[in-house]
Amino acid sequence: MNLNSEHSSHVIGEIRSRIKRTGKIPFSEFMEVALYLPKYGYYCVNEKQPYQEDYFTSPSVSPVFGACIAIQLMQMWLLLCKPKEFAVVEIGCGNGNLFRDITNFASKVNAEFAACLKYFPTDIDDQVPSQIIGCVISNELLDAFPVARFRVIEGSINEVFVTLDENENIIEVTEKCSNPQINEYLASLENPLQEGHKGEFNVGIDDWMRKVTDILSKGFVITIDYGGYKEDVYSKSNSKGTLQTYYKHVYGLSPYQKVGQQDLTAKLDFSRVIDAGYANGMCNIGLIEQAEFLKNNGIKEMENQIRNLNLGNREKQENLYAIDMLCRADRLGGFKVLIQSKNQDVRILEKLWTSRDALDGLAKNPPLKKHDHIGILPNQYSSSYVEIDNLFEDFTETF
Ligand SMILES: C[S@@+](CC[C@H](N)C(=O)[O-])C[C@H]1O[C@@H](n2cnc3c(N)ncnc32)[C@H](O)[C@@H]1O
Repeated sequence: MNLNSEHSSHVIGEIRSRIKRTGKIPFSEFMEVALYLPKYGYYCVNEKQPYQEDYFTSPSVSPVFGACIAIQLMQMWLLLCKPKEFAVVEIGCGNGNLFRDITNFASKVNAEFAACLKYFPTDIDDQVPSQIIGCVISNELLDAFPVARFRVIEGSINEVFVTLDENENIIEVTEKCSNPQINEYLASLENPLQEGHKGEFNVGIDDWMRKVTDILSKGFVITIDYGGYKEDVYSKSNSKGTLQTYYKHVYGLSPYQKVGQQDLTAKLDFSRVIDAGYANGMCNIGLIEQAEFLKNNGIKEMENQIRNLNLGNREKQENLYAIDMLCRADRLGGFKVLIQSKNQDVRILEKLWTSRDALDGLAKNPPLKKHDHIGILPNQYSSSYVEIDNLFEDFTETF
């Protein structure tokens, strides 16, 4: 048995024994075990960093992403009146690319800022500091929090549970949802969900926001992820649900295949992150597309500089293509950036941007890709997609 199947069998064993104890478990619990079972869940396997093999994220594509964020953080430091220690706590830092790219570029942005910057890259199980002045940042973290799944049947919200059939195969069953938070939230949507609508409800957002308020005494929160406002996440175009699986750049497998070996994510409902923020004393400054955020932090200026550098053709193309991928609406540029604040006065996004003249200066020495940024020139990865629409039928999988 190879290491992956061994991990998988621990995860499946845990799921089975939980089901045997209680008859069924909510899908959110299944997802929590698959991703987070200590030592064996997808995100808890220490021997490797699986997500890099399965898909790529903005920090893994280009250091320009971190450079733009360094410019944004410098502006936040200025708005906070240059605190002597400006702490940045990154949650879900993965392989640390973003940490390295931000701190490397910070000294090019402003030496005084770089001297005040204290960066805490953290991932599952790491201690996080508390009561900092600065910024809490995450990229593609919240989309991996466990979700409840539901389907509208005869006008009611029915929740998906996972159970075993007589042959001990995993199957799904649906049952009237008894969770008042889910029922009330979905009932409050302006456009009522249509019959048959399938969707998700992220069960980790409130705890997450409470954790952020403990970390942050004064400053900002930057949350980058895919998703949108509730009107988008629960729109007709998402009526088949937004749960995605990723395994070695193939997406669309059933969540009951490769359990513990594949990533599971769902579109993030940023409206809930904003509401949970208000409930915990945070203000919403704004939600914008990643492309717009990066443009306001110098990505076009850096792109122009790279165009004029004396580089080999392939290296230049690789760097420019990565920037294109960060900005294109149908790729990472369509991700959203939410900026919230706590105990400080800035209320509008425009106040966060550096002037265009200053950006020209800051972009003069753009960072170039290193060996551990993923090569993405066309054809390096074939992203495959497997269409599945049987998630709510009696899907069985023999383990
Ligand atoms: C999709 S990866 C993104 C990694 C990195 N931010 C990037 O953009 O490349 C999600 C990361 O979040 C981490 N993670 C998931 N849940 C977490 C939690 N509750 N607390 C801290 N880290 C978590 C995972 O271990 C993983 O490293």
